[in-house]
Amino acid sequence: MLFRIARSKTGGKISHYDLYKVEVREGMTVLDALFQIQDRMDPSLSFRYSCRGAVCGSCAMLIDKIPRLACRTQLISLKKDERNLQPFPALVEAPQGWTPGNEVLIEPLPNLPLLKDLVVDMQRFYAALNELRLWSDTEEGETPRTQKPADRKKIERYVNCIMCALCFGSCPVNSEEEEYLGPAALAKAWRFYSDSRTPEPKRYLEDAKRDDGALLCELIMNCVKVCPKGVAPGGAIRKIKNE
Ligand code: SF4
Ligand code: FES
Repeated sequence: MLFRIARSKTGGKISHYDLYKVEVREGMTVLDALFQIQDRMDPSLSFRYSCRGAVCGSCAMLIDKIPRLACRTQLISLKKDERNLQPFPALVEAPQGWTPGNEVLIEPLPNLPLLKDLVVDMQRFYAALNELRLWSDTEEGETPRTQKPADRKKIERYVNCIMCALCFGSCPVNSEEEEYLGPAALAKAWRFYSDSRTPEPKRYLEDAKRDDGALLCELIMNCVKVCPKGVAPGGAIRKIKNE
């Protein structure tokens, strides 16, 4: 199987694409293919990974123009994907010579600055979480805050976020508006607002409604289609807008 991979030695933008022939074994993922290329053909190829099991969120990239986790994407199922994402330039502009169906195209996750090859700078993604202070403050000596199973169920899907930034890389608004906080941060704000243990839930909702927050979302829902954990950030943003 042929892999056409975006390369950039110094970051900033993709400088060219390299073509590699991968020996496919049963059950192989895109991440396995990248390991094979790095081990046997090109040790300089850079990409992020850690858990290899769709838990750490490190291996997010653009695979055949769809934002996906490399460790969770089986080569065998690649061509069956029909998610119909709303396009923006990074999702449609194809490199010269790419023949879909014959080659797997691998590129860095869009909407974040490129550092090298498939490695992007996640600062912009994390900054939104910091800005909205998306955690629950505790005080020294405070008694543990317990939660009923029914209340936990209400926030379950948001707690499952692995911070992979696939939603951020799939969002047409994030591609246009640099200041937009992005789907994951807003889903997390909704999670703390809805969490029965949060002492001052209103601050999360007010922050999520900032000019650079839920107001900018156009409910396109690419984020819902690419999220590997079923978080459905777009659903949370709709609730924020309606609240
Ligand atoms: S909401 Fe889904 S796609 Fe977005 S960072 Fe969390 S797990 Fe990844
Ligand atoms: S390597 Fe951890 S999510 Fe893919």
